[in-house]
Amino acid sequence: MGRIKAIEFVNDQLRLIDQTKLPLSEEYIVTDDYERIAVSIERLEVRGAPAIGITAAYALALSLKEIKGNVGEIFEIAYLRLKQTRPTAVNLFWALERMKNVFNQAKDKSNIYNDLVNEANAIFHEDQIMCDKIAVNGLQVFRGKAKVITHCNTGSLVTAGGGTALYVIQKAFENNLVEHVYADETRPLMQGSRLTAFELDKLSIPFSIITDSSAAYVIKNVGIDLIITGADRIAKNGDTANKIGTFNLAVLAKHHGVPFYIAAPSSTIDTNCETGKDIQIEFRDSKEINSINGSQITKPGYPVYAPAFDVTPSNLITGIITEDKVFSNDYSF
Ligand code: MRU
Repeated sequence: MGRIKAIEFVNDQLRLIDQTKLPLSEEYIVTDDYERIAVSIERLEVRGAPAIGITAAYALALSLKEIKGNVGEIFEIAYLRLKQTRPTAVNLFWALERMKNVFNQAKDKSNIYNDLVNEANAIFHEDQIMCDKIAVNGLQVFRGKAKVITHCNTGSLVTAGGGTALYVIQKAFENNLVEHVYADETRPLMQGSRLTAFELDKLSIPFSIITDSSAAYVIKNVGIDLIITGADRIAKNGDTANKIGTFNLAVLAKHHGVPFYIAAPSSTIDTNCETGKDIQIEFRDSKEINSINGSQITKPGYPVYAPAFDVTPSNLITGIITEDKVFSNDYSF
């Protein structure tokens, strides 16, 4: 089974699988318009920390595909636009800074666009390599054939390669170390029941979708051996922001003595954040909570509180699997 190509740069156009349509329909957005890509990031048509960074890098390159006006001004407008799409995943800012550094070195060159595309391609290829290394390092955390819970979606849809947490699970499955995966549905946008289930199905890994609120029941009654999730931003002390509900899982893991791991590339570590308190949490539109597929499910106007991420304190995290090694206890990045 071939890997899903969620992001491809072909013929100077970006091709993104529209993740809002999955799993019922496989549709693609093909564009060379950085504004359309910015909107895709905001709508979660492309989502997940590494994918947001890679996509934004290509978008910034595309802003200079046809230069009509002042190069510096065009670049700065596109850079600022992309920077404000989503606040939590640090991969976005990490990728945009890399692109800006290349721009600053090459801004006087006539082929600046090629330099920018080359840098976006480098970010893409490095991400693939990081995924492979994370998956191999992740095998260390298995102590036998495991029943695993994961949250949100962290497979090939959200990286240039095989993924982060879900790729660890895939590699472990290939090594006969996974018995069953329980995929949290991940309210409100259902990244688990729509996307993780879709990826697990394609990989022929046995799974069940569970509601987020059944995690305690499943851990206690089914007997979960391991919980692995991805990350959107990891602070210097190991505090980790990830999809809302991850913190709940970590508390449950501690209570039941289940190892709780994060898998993420180094591009997700933010050494400018000392602790999780410094991480900006995105709040989403109330429509994502009070309606489903465009149908209102509450009385109109009921107040909603919609954080999209939470921060799991490092003392609840057994280890952080990166491309370099599995960090445990000592999270001084
Ligand atoms: O709001 P989303 O769907 O972009 O949130 C994604 C997550 O929280 C993922 O777990 C995280 O980005 C890791 S992706 C490898």
